[in-house]
Formats: sequence, C-alpha cells, structure tokens
Amino acid sequence: MKNILCIGAGHVGGPTMAMIASKCPDYTVQVVDINEERIRAWQKGKPPIFETGLEELIAGTRGRNLFFSTDIASGIREADIIFVSVNTPTKTAGVGAGRAADLHFYEETARQIREHSVSDKIVVEKSTIPVRTAEAMTRILHSDRNDVRFEVISNPEFLAEGTAVRDLETPDRVLIGGNDTSTGHRAVQELVEIYAHWVPRDRIVTTNVWSSELSKLAANAFLAQRVSSINAISAIAEATGADIDEVSGVVGMDNRIGSRFLKAGVGYGGSCFRKDILNLCYLAESHGLMEVASYWQQVVDMNDYQEHRFVSRMVRTMFNSLTGKRIAVLGFAFKPDTSDTRESPAIPVCLQLLEEGARLAIHDPKALENARRDLAGTGEERVAFCNDPYEAACGAHAIALLTEWKEYSQLDFERIYRSMERPAFIFDGRNCLDHTLLYEIGFNVLPIGKPERTRL
Ligand code: NAD
Ligand code: UGA
Repeated sequence: MKNILCIGAGHVGGPTMAMIASKCPDYTVQVVDINEERIRAWQKGKPPIFETGLEELIAGTRGRNLFFSTDIASGIREADIIFVSVNTPTKTAGVGAGRAADLHFYEETARQIREHSVSDKIVVEKSTIPVRTAEAMTRILHSDRNDVRFEVISNPEFLAEGTAVRDLETPDRVLIGGNDTSTGHRAVQELVEIYAHWVPRDRIVTTNVWSSELSKLAANAFLAQRVSSINAISAIAEATGADIDEVSGVVGMDNRIGSRFLKAGVGYGGSCFRKDILNLCYLAESHGLMEVASYWQQVVDMNDYQEHRFVSRMVRTMFNSLTGKRIAVLGFAFKPDTSDTRESPAIPVCLQLLEEGARLAIHDPKALENARRDLAGTGEERVAFCNDPYEAACGAHAIALLTEWKEYSQLDFERIYRSMERPAFIFDGRNCLDHTLLYEIGFNVLPIGKPERTRL
C-alpha cells in the first residue's frame, strides 16, 4: 500500500484527497495542516468548508484510508508521494507587492519536506504557482543533502468551489507536467495511475512542467477574461437599451465561442481569478513583456470598474445620496453554494456603500460569519447581519442582490415590498430575479446590462 500525503487541508487539499481516498482504496491518504482548528473539523467529519457532497464523501473514507493530522513531520517521513496544496496568495509587501505570488508558505513546505524526508519522494505541486516554481522547489529540496532524491511534478487543480466534488469526480481534464527525464517520466506515470482509477485515460493530459504550470494560470485568465468581456458589453447595453442576456445568448450560440462564463454580473470574485491574473501580469513584466502584462491587467481593471459602476448607479438612481438609507444586501459569498467570501465583489460594494453613508442589512445563507470578519472595523455600527432575508429587507430603501442564491428567486417579493420604504429599488447584480414581476409589484428594477424599469 502506497502512502500519499497532502500538505494543506483547505478548499483544494481536503476535497481532492477525499476523492483520491474514495477512488483508490489501495492507497493510504493523509492530509496535514498547521491549522489545528481545520484539522479538528476534518477529523470530526465536519469539513471546515462547505461543499455539496463532501461530508458524504469523507464519511465513506475517513478512518479507512483517509486521515487528518497536524503531525507534518511524521506525515512526510511515511509518504511516498507528497501533494503540496498550501495557499499562494498575492504578496502584500516588498518587491512585486500587490501582484506577485507570495510563495513563503510554499517555500516553508519545501524546507519541511527536506528536513523530515528519509526516503525518495515524488513532490506534486497542487497549488497554483508562477511558472518555474518547480525549479525553485527542486533546488531547495536538494540543497543540503544528496542521499534522498525528490522528483517535482506539476498537477494543478481545476475544481471550482461549490461544485468541487462533481468537478473532482468528472473532471474535464487532469493535467500532469513532468521533467523529460526517466525519473520524471516515472513520476508522471505514478500519478497517471492514481487518477486512472476513475478518470478516463484520454482526459489525463501529460505535458512538460512549465506548460503545466502556465496552463493553470492561462485557464483562469481566459475564464476571467470572458466575464470581464461580457461585463464590458453590459455597460454598453445599459447605455443603449440592449439586453445583455439576449446578447450573451446570441454570442454564446456560436460554437467557436460557447455559452459558458458569459453571464454578466457585479463582477467576479473568488480567491483565485484576481491573484492568478496579477501573477500572470507580474510574470510577463519580469520577462520584459509589458504589452502582455497590460493586456491581462485590463481583465482585472474591468472587474474593478464593474463593481464601482454598480454602486455609482445606485447612488445616481437614489437621488444622489445614500446617507442614512438602509440597503438590504442579499448575498455576500462570491458565488452561490459556498460560504467563501474571498475577493467577493460584495466586499468592495459594501465598503463603497458605507462610504456613501448608507446603513447595511446583510443576509447570506452560508457566509454571514465570513462577512462579519471581512467588514470588521469598517463602520460596523452601520452594519446589521441578518439571518433572515425578510428581516434584512424590512425598512430598506433598496435591495442590492450580489449573489444568486437559489432561495432569493423564491422569496415573497410582495411581502418584501410591503415592508420597504418607498420608492423601493432593486438592483439585481446577478440578473437572477423576475424583473417583470418585480416591476408589477411596484419596485423600481435595475438589472445589470438591461433597460431599467423605473416609475420615477
Ligand atoms: P486554503 O487557504 O483553503 O488552504 C490552504 C491550507 O494550507 C490552509 O489550511 C493553511 O493553513 C495550509 N498551510 C499553509 N502553510 C502550511 C504549511 N507550511 N504546512 C501545512 N499547512 C499549511 O487554500 P485553497 O483554496 O485550498 O488553495 C490552495 C491552492 O490551490 C492555491 O494555490 C490556490 O490558488 C489553488 N487553487 C484553489 C482553488 C479553489 O477553488 N479554492 C481551485 C484551484 C486551485
Ligand atoms: C475558478 C475556476 O472556474 C476553476 O476552474 C479554478 O480551478 C478556480 O477558479 C481556481 O483556480 O481557484 P471558482 O473561483 O471557484 O473557480 O468559481 P467560478 O465558478 O469560476 O466563479 C468565479 C467568479 O466568476 C464568481 O464570482 C462568479 O459569480 C463569476 N462569474 C462566473 C460570473 O460573473 N459570470 C459567469 O458567467 C461565470
């Protein structure tokens, strides 16, 4: 029985290892982390992150061939294959601050592996990292001893939050990049054999290490670029009377373009799009490719613009002042079916609303705790966190819908309208409500990239 270790029990490490353990009973899988609270939650079978189907997945494997621990040193000693799935945030200080990836967690892991290894290992880069990180990793791993050999390969993760279990079970592709050497080929083959337990072989793609590292950054940049492109068109739609959902429907019918990731909204969020594009920009700049960097920078700038534009429109529509007005914010997570609020557009939108003097009543089915943390120290006396959307809307001058939770389209808007100040506004930042119905009830309705329905 081979031993797999994963360092980092977060959104990627936890679900990915649970899937490997479930599909590969012939491997022992251990997941370690420095965060004791996270590990305790996994050990109890109550994952510290919310993902549909995850609890069931670990219920079948935990204690059988899936284990969670904070004992990183013995995990490393016992492992044959080590996945590194620690966080790789954007640097906040020093050279490249605000753009380059902060690899200090990554480097720390490399040093731990070097220190505790007593046998040869395959080290798998699971985190999203700058191109050529495998080279730095290899140098650190081999820097002070020569009896233990490490083969570093790249296996980026493409799961999306909220659909992690489904994405892991039926991935579009699994990407494995290795060195063009006999040990490199062997290591890649070992990983191919693991995934081949459940992923069809033609979906397991092998490349060189640098292609694998760059493909991950490129894939996220392309996805974010589509969202920024449709959001840019949504501004033109608002100015001209076109309907963005009609436009994206038509554009997406072209097979060469495809229909997914063309939904206009208040902006993309999530822990990765922004950081990975900035990382790509920094990489381009560091190779002197300034035009390439500024091309991709626009994808981030357009997202900032869309968030800003959303609030400016609210201010303009609500008679140029939000001072003292109660705004019900429906949804704080960066997308539905997750409690994750990292880089959620709700954060800059709420901060801007507070700057305008508004009072906020925030509801989210899963993310209220994170919302509270994100807005700590930013005018909390004007923010209420509500467990009930009706309570949030009661007495509000406007509703700003920022996350398309399914339950929001099923709300009793007649009841909500009766409880609100008049005129009552709805700014549908995700175009997920029935705008005709809302207008008939009496609301002034302002979707993204569609004609407004106002009674003023
Ligand atoms: P996360 O913050 O949820 O989890 C990372 C974990 O690593 C944390 O629990 C942290 O405590 C732990 N950690 C940090 N340093 C450690 C150390 N030295 N030893 C042990 N544990 C340590 O992050 P995540 O969302 O799982 O992302 C991990 C990587 O995967 C990132 O590079 C990210 O870009 C990439 N990624 C994320 C997603 C996603 O949907 N979140 C999808 C694909 C790829
Ligand atoms: C994204 C990618 O989809 C994954 O393939 C990738 O592995 C992951 O990033 C990562 O590297 O972290 P994720 O951020 O979890 O996954 O979620 P997405 O479904 O991609 O949504 C990201 C954001 O874009 C959300 O805020 C969503 O509301 C927004 N979005 C998405 C739109 O505004 N319009 C769309 O048409 C699609």
